[in-house]
Amino acid sequence: MSSPPVTTIVEVGKHEGQAVTIRGWLYNLRESGKLLFPQFRDGSGVIQGVVPKNAVAPEVFEAVKTLTQESSVIVEGKVRADKRAPSGYELDVSNVQVIQRVPDSEPYPITPKEHGVEFLMEAACEGTSTLFPVDYFDEQAYLTQSGQLYIEATAMALGKVYSFGPTFRAEKSKTRRHLTEFWMVEPEVAYAELDDLMELAENLISFIAKRCVERRRADLQTIGRDVSKLEKTEAPFPRISYDDAVKNLQEGHAQGALENRFEWGGDLGSPDETYLSAQFDKPVMVHRYPAKVKAFYMEPDPQRPELALCVDVLAPEGYGEIIGGSQRMASLDLLRQRIQEHGLPQEAFKWYLDLRRYGSVPHGGFGMGIERVVAWICGLEHVRETIPFPRMLNRLYP
Ligand code: 4AD
Ligand code: MG
Repeated sequence: MSSPPVTTIVEVGKHEGQAVTIRGWLYNLRESGKLLFPQFRDGSGVIQGVVPKNAVAPEVFEAVKTLTQESSVIVEGKVRADKRAPSGYELDVSNVQVIQRVPDSEPYPITPKEHGVEFLMEAACEGTSTLFPVDYFDEQAYLTQSGQLYIEATAMALGKVYSFGPTFRAEKSKTRRHLTEFWMVEPEVAYAELDDLMELAENLISFIAKRCVERRRADLQTIGRDVSKLEKTEAPFPRISYDDAVKNLQEGHAQGALENRFEWGGDLGSPDETYLSAQFDKPVMVHRYPAKVKAFYMEPDPQRPELALCVDVLAPEGYGEIIGGSQRMASLDLLRQRIQEHGLPQEAFKWYLDLRRYGSVPHGGFGMGIERVVAWICGLEHVRETIPFPRMLNRLYP
């Protein structure tokens, strides 16, 4: 039996009288005899569900009855208008799938009662990343490489979020694609899986290209950009697995188009990216790289755990990677193990691990480097032309 359409709580009114699926968390639970009143939240709002004992399967009733606060759930039910409900609607629950049940032994620390600001501040923690150290009032801190870990936290509260901010990498790369300070747009989406992320990425990129052509055609022509190339940037984009990319690169080497033979297991270098993307007239999405060459937080492919559920979007015309993203590891135990394998300090990631302790859900996101996208859209030679004060390996001022 297929599930009813997925919607968000703020939009249930559009489905009055119909069955829907809501993906979120348990906010609160009341019980009154043979009736359960779970309140669900999904970041867009809160809705009360009604679960009468005699109207649902016994295992569904039992699952709801024993649900703990902030456990993650996928709920199916029929939307019913109710004047007394704060949102105007209630949900007659027919089925509940528990994604992660927060254990009774370790309940969610923030109960729905009032808390002072101080308590909440203590619950906040700091992540560390290994690059650009700074002295933060005699404490060692680091400039962030990405907003990702933080927006994973806000995605668990709000469902869909994004960050747009400066990021820093003490990368000793002297290429036309590398800055030490650059800006990244990072969406993060609760319940999104790899295919959803690829769809979001291709829609975002094609929207940007279309807007620029629509509204800035004259500017693009002034700087000598061949606009017809950008006009081809329409979703869907070609998708190729890392495995197929490797075969493709090896053929390229055999034909003499690439200097080095690419071996399975390595990360793609600039010439490899350029060779692959030159075969398409729109961006290409390469997915499922070996986990070993990617970040610690990526979800393994259940079919082949040596691969990560990740994607890189490569721009055409040799501009290389403009987006990198992945599904995030949902399992607490595996994430803990990866943090250890990568030699990262458990203590600094305590708050990040908490996201898997209290209502972990499949989720993911990506980062789009603004300067690289601008360089490609404008057809510029070097990313330093895209930012007023480029910071690079040997350039700090101005
Ligand atoms: O692939 P990256 O390293 O991914 C992340 O940082 C993830 N945490 C993002 C996420 O999933 N939320 O970087 C993302 C993008 C790259 O695809 C590239 O466009 C850009 O950021 N980028 C750089 N741009 C300029 N100079 C550099 N040194 C860059 N490093 C990455
Ligand atoms: Mg990357």
